[in-house]
Amino acid sequence: MKIKEFYDEPTFTLSYVAYDEETKDAVIIDPVLDYEPQGSTIAEETADKILGFVDELKLNVHFIIETHAHADHLTSAQYLKGKLPQAITVIHENIKIVQSTFKDIFNFDDSFDVEGKTFDRLVKDNDVLEAGSLKIKALHTPGHTPACTSYLINEKALFTGDAIFMPDFGTGRCDFPAGSAEDLYNSITTKIFSLPDETEIYVGHDYQPNGRDLEFKTTVGDQKTSNVHIKEDISKEEFLKFRTARDKTLMAPKLLLASVQVNIQNGIFPKAESNGLSYLKIPVRHE
Ligand SMILES: [Fe+2]
Repeated sequence: MKIKEFYDEPTFTLSYVAYDEETKDAVIIDPVLDYEPQGSTIAEETADKILGFVDELKLNVHFIIETHAHADHLTSAQYLKGKLPQAITVIHENIKIVQSTFKDIFNFDDSFDVEGKTFDRLVKDNDVLEAGSLKIKALHTPGHTPACTSYLINEKALFTGDAIFMPDFGTGRCDFPAGSAEDLYNSITTKIFSLPDETEIYVGHDYQPNGRDLEFKTTVGDQKTSNVHIKEDISKEEFLKFRTARDKTLMAPKLLLASVQVNIQNGIFPKAESNGLSYLKIPVRHE
């Protein structure tokens, strides 16, 4: 199995194609749709890079997998599915919790999906997706969001989304609605750290701390010994104290409002209005 990364610099996001060169079996993980918030315009340049790679290698994409509903970039799952109609979109079944939570926040009407129906397949902890020669095990790793899931491919490579980042950047924030620092601690220490030390980890973002070059691949062993937030011996109390204090200092992601309402519907935009344009909703709060 091989892994090709695609880095979206504006949102620091890593998308991946995991594939078998011989059998051509492949999956896409966390693909980005370009969104420019000032003009509220979308583009498919980043997604087309993934498609170009898939075409060049003549890969058969079985699944388009979301590690979670992202709050900092839009997903290109729908665009890719249009081009790769055989591909099945996947997310954890707790997306229903996330959908319900944000349906209330955005005050959407009852036509808004809260049953996960906009996704082709909802997985549970330990489900295995069969993609030809690729076996993809879903490890539910909630905390950043309740639907967060890490995907272990062929017992070798783990895609952690925003649960855990490169060791020098730490862990994902837990202050989004329905997030939980305690869940994240349990997810990392009981699920991720129980995998063999040599298991490769591919992270969902890299923020290139201190201006260092892009890095996206590490191992379970390296995380246990050097993650700046959650080394193997840290207690739950210590982690909760740290994570909660850190989250209080973080600004909302720039694309939060746009990305959440689109991503929890699997990248489907609201139905176009009479002028052919789709509109997103923005709540206004008084401080
Ligand atoms: Fe995220």
